[in-house]
Amino acid sequence: MPANQLFCSDNLMVLQQLPPESIDVVYLDPPFFTNRTHSTAQHHFSDEWQNLSTYIRWLYERVAAIHKLMKPTATIYLHCDWHADAYIRVEILDKIFGYHNYLNQIVWHYVMGSSAQRNWGRKYDTIYWYAKNPNKYHFDLAAIKTPYSPETIARSQRGEARYKTQLTEQDGKNPGNVWTDIHPVQGNSRESWHYPTQKPEKLLQRLLLAASREGDVLLDPFAGSGTSLAVAQQLNRHWIGIDESQEAIALCQKRLNICEV
Ligand SMILES: C[S@@+](CC[C@H](N)C(=O)[O-])C[C@H]1O[C@@H](n2cnc3c(N)ncnc32)[C@H](O)[C@@H]1O
Repeated sequence: MPANQLFCSDNLMVLQQLPPESIDVVYLDPPFFTNRTHSTAQHHFSDEWQNLSTYIRWLYERVAAIHKLMKPTATIYLHCDWHADAYIRVEILDKIFGYHNYLNQIVWHYVMGSSAQRNWGRKYDTIYWYAKNPNKYHFDLAAIKTPYSPETIARSQRGEARYKTQLTEQDGKNPGNVWTDIHPVQGNSRESWHYPTQKPEKLLQRLLLAASREGDVLLDPFAGSGTSLAVAQQLNRHWIGIDESQEAIALCQKRLNICEV
């Protein structure tokens, strides 16, 4: 398949036309059912719905089309939050992929202030990870190990009983499924393209390094500012990005240095 493609369209039309079993890894960051329009001074996208059933039916149709495009070895990351996460897992992912193909749920915990007065602040997003076939998927732990803290290294070197070996700075650990070390993109961040709900590159780097190899094809059907596409490019992966917003596609073109679609 010709790789690196950018489409400005409702993603369903494109998903129904891409070749079956051609994608190695999928990342999707759809509207979360917040029932508002997300805006920055420069850009906006709508996340307004008649009701939850309408939203779930809309997303189900798209995830079902994506499932057909995935190779037997592929995995999918679906990024969402408290607004609909339970419904997305049970009513969409379990129904399309099967409960037994659920691999994990990554909790992306971010530290930000909260204005909640009558509730606890909501401080995390959920990224569901499913395989098409749980016996065949790719996971490269070596690529995503995170460093031990200097205290842990020192304790292991002192021979404390719970450490089996003496660790060094070169050793790394599995980051687990609760990530606290990745900060959200703020308007004044160096990587900001001023796109509402733009995700950090470090988040995508970890996701893609774990679940894909160089030369693999990433599909992102809700590309927005193109974070996943830019990271795929940096990591020598191919990519297919779709967004229905012309302003999002123009931003992706700029970010990826593409002259025309
Ligand atoms: C949460 S944003 C994605 C942000 C992106 N991950 C980033 O880092 O910039 C969701 C995007 O989905 C797009 N979108 C919503 N409905 C769509 C549809 N049916 N087809 C294609 N794109 C859609 C919106 O225009 C918006 O850019």
